[in-house]
Amino acid sequence: MRVVSGIQPTGQPHLGNYLGAIVNYVKLQDEAHAAGGECFIFLADLHAISMPHDPAELSATTREMVATLVACGLDPSKTVLFNQAQVPAHAELQWLLSGTARMGWLNRMTQWKDKAGKNREGQSIALFTYPVLQAADVLLYQATHVPVGEDQKQHLELARDIAQKFNNDFASEDAPIFTLPEPIIPPEAARIMSLRDGNAKMSKSDVSDLARINLIDDADTIMKKVKKAKTDPEPLPSEEAGLEGRAEALNLVSIYGALSGQSVSDVLGEFGGQGFGVFKPALGELMIDTLSPINTRFRDLMQDREALDAILARGAAKAREASGDTLAAAYKALGLVRG
Ligand code: TRP
Repeated sequence: MRVVSGIQPTGQPHLGNYLGAIVNYVKLQDEAHAAGGECFIFLADLHAISMPHDPAELSATTREMVATLVACGLDPSKTVLFNQAQVPAHAELQWLLSGTARMGWLNRMTQWKDKAGKNREGQSIALFTYPVLQAADVLLYQATHVPVGEDQKQHLELARDIAQKFNNDFASEDAPIFTLPEPIIPPEAARIMSLRDGNAKMSKSDVSDLARINLIDDADTIMKKVKKAKTDPEPLPSEEAGLEGRAEALNLVSIYGALSGQSVSDVLGEFGGQGFGVFKPALGELMIDTLSPINTRFRDLMQDREALDAILARGAAKAREASGDTLAAAYKALGLVRG
């Protein structure tokens, strides 16, 4: 079992990143560790340059994201934690795979279509070839399990197509160069929506800070945001079906369930018939209980920049070592003679 995943180091990490991605990394880290497998989690800083960005901000947010991941429970002694920029093999393999990936495949990517909108001609080439770098990210390490959100499933399918075509074209059947990776998509409950609109994902780019719970929000801010969260005037139903058409109520109940390890129907079993005047303070308390230790660890880690840099340097050394053979095999298979 080899778990590999990347997270973009842009913006403030929030509850949606935590419940949707980071909690799942920690779980897989522990599973992989227990099964004698390995876990590689990296900051996708090379991907971040596919959109306009501020260089100083990128280095700062890369460190913040490492501190966040460690504060949330990723353990650098169990997980190889690094940033792509320190492991040149990612950029190298991307180029090698660019001979295999097809324009037609990339043109079908919905993330490309969404991000480019009507202005395809004005986008960076990096935005278009973004999924090829993502394929390199996982194929380099012979990943078997790749935890991602639903929106990244298509990129993983592309990585499998690239791996398959490369193996077909350049490797013998009994000695494939790349392993086909499987996406691991967390359960539906992990889709955390905005506190202001139950139909929009909780996002770092939402103009209203009230729409999200940032992992560094203090207890008062969290309680205030939960109390101001959009809801409807009805009390909570006792059955899940009663949440139909009540996107905001469903979101708050789902968050409660995700934080307490309960299903939506368990939560309704406890709170059915109660109004938001009772439910919101309970949810706020639960969030504060979960996030305040993370918050404290994050602040401690951010005070020691050298320690954070050392974590990244150690991770990068392990990642370079782990990716060396696969990269060499890819060069060789293509007939490229390295010095
Ligand atoms: N594209 C992913 C996202 O936006 C981040 C990412 C980059 C990634 N490389 C990856 C995820 C490799 C999984 C595997 O969320």
